[in-house]
Amino acid sequence: MCKLKDSNEKIKGKQGNWVRGMKFLGEVGVENNKFLTASHAKLKLWILRAITTLLLWTCIIQLVALGEVWGPNLLKSWPSCSSPPDVYTESNASLTRREVVLPPKRVYKNNGYLVVSCNGGLNQMRAAICDMVAIARHLNVTLIVPELDKTSFWADPSDFQDIFEVDHFISSLRDEVRILKELPPRLKRKILPLLKKHKVVHLNRTDARLANNGLPFEIQKLRCRVNFHSLRFTARIEELGRKVVRALRQNGPFLVLHLRYEMDMLSFSGCTRGCSNEEVDELTRMRYANPWWKEKAIDSELKRREGLCPLTPEEAALVLTALGIDHNVQIYIAAGEIYGGERRLRHLAAAFPNLVRKEKLLEPSELLFFRDHSSQMAALDYLVSLESDFFVPTYDGNMAKVVEGHRRYLGFKKTILLDRKVLINLIDQHENGLLIWDEFSSTIKEVHANRTGCPKSRVMISDKPKVEDYFYANPQECLQPADAALSS
Ligand SMILES: *[C@@H]1O[C@H](CO)[C@@H](O)[C@H](O)[C@H]1NC(C)=O
Ligand SMILES: *[C@@H]1O[C@H](CO)[C@@H](O)[C@H](O)[C@H]1NC(C)=O
Ligand SMILES: *[C@@H]1O[C@H](CO)[C@@H](O)[C@H](O)[C@H]1NC(C)=O
Ligand SMILES: *[C@@H]1O[C@H](CO)[C@@H](O)[C@H](O)[C@H]1NC(C)=O
Repeated sequence: MCKLKDSNEKIKGKQGNWVRGMKFLGEVGVENNKFLTASHAKLKLWILRAITTLLLWTCIIQLVALGEVWGPNLLKSWPSCSSPPDVYTESNASLTRREVVLPPKRVYKNNGYLVVSCNGGLNQMRAAICDMVAIARHLNVTLIVPELDKTSFWADPSDFQDIFEVDHFISSLRDEVRILKELPPRLKRKILPLLKKHKVVHLNRTDARLANNGLPFEIQKLRCRVNFHSLRFTARIEELGRKVVRALRQNGPFLVLHLRYEMDMLSFSGCTRGCSNEEVDELTRMRYANPWWKEKAIDSELKRREGLCPLTPEEAALVLTALGIDHNVQIYIAAGEIYGGERRLRHLAAAFPNLVRKEKLLEPSELLFFRDHSSQMAALDYLVSLESDFFVPTYDGNMAKVVEGHRRYLGFKKTILLDRKVLINLIDQHENGLLIWDEFSSTIKEVHANRTGCPKSRVMISDKPKVEDYFYANPQECLQPADAALSS
């Protein structure tokens, strides 16, 4: 029921050829078995599986948060993952720091160095980092703290340590793999000759992904460990996250709407419903100008009917209302600039007057900072999304998937996984007068009754990796069954 399609996602990872990086690694193995020796065959298998690609990506700490805040009016009919009473226990889920006792360092013979340059948006890079740790561990190499993408659409100059606690990342994984902030100077000076001798592997893109399935259990656990425990946002970002969550909590429960209605997405996908002619032109020009976006001529309406467009803000308003979301609930918009601005948010704001944007909750100076650091803003939105009572993504991109997975890890907090293809069909029928409101609403509720981020098995389709469920959206190897989560 919850099959997630995302064949057209990959947007920010699209800026290059993922094959390049992986091929290089493959060649290293072929040409010189000093590096990769025993693991070569297995690795190759992985690489094949990694062609799986294109699924999406994710953060932080542990702690089971069981927020069932829905008061009497809020989504009365909404099913919950498990039967125990809806008790709302305030917790700081992801924002609670737990001091960990550092594990002893793992002792192993270092086979070389793995240098990684990630590409894509924050959440795509996040998942890639988890995969890279798993690869480094498997190959007994030393991982150099990954370099983040500074040239994508988001053009955020932030380095790893501007977004994540780098020392925590290194020390919390030291029983698995050695991680250094930089290549040793000795090697740095000689990096080119060394590259030739295959002592250093540089993966210059990371949007090829490890397979979702069929990997050893320890590798899957390690991917989770990196994702949920070792990648911790910096204290500054967490502080801002707490501030936003505190401000929201003061006024009761809140829903995070990941309204992926941003310029890059619309340009890339060609979804222009509701845009003015000038806007359509602008989006089209941008798409044709981007050499990495292969699809140029796009029929927006056709694509929309196939369920491949992010919901528009107007559609989102309609769907939330049909789902029975209380009109007074706070809705925090997790997104950058909404394309079309206030004009496009009018319907949503009319239906849900407690629409909260960052601008309401943060100081001008904090906002100004985010303007140039969109990855850090994405990190803030990530934290707020984790903490929310309901998380509703309007598109199944990297952020949607990785947050969904993280919320599963935090005790199956509710994520409404919208079935856009079905929704669009219903919306059109309703708007054409073929479906009365009550039927429209009850059908939408029914369709989504089981799409709430509850425990379920990942859909595995071994010859169609692109359509199977994404590992980071449902890292089932690392999840406790809901009952256990509730009682722990
Ligand atoms: C949540 O965090 C705040 C500030 O960090 C702290 O004062 C509060 O006690 C925490 N609440 C819980 C339930 O841990
Ligand atoms: C990695 O090191 C372990 C021992 O620490 C060894 O058993 C294993 O074979 C090594 N793997 C590779 C690929 O070198
Ligand atoms: C990585 O790839 C980009 C283009 O995709 C290129 O501009 C850059 O020079 C490469 N870096 C290295 C170290 O090869
Ligand atoms: C939802 O799940 C329940 C129990 O697992 C099942 O009885 C019901 O038919 C499912 N509903 C839909 C619409 O799939």
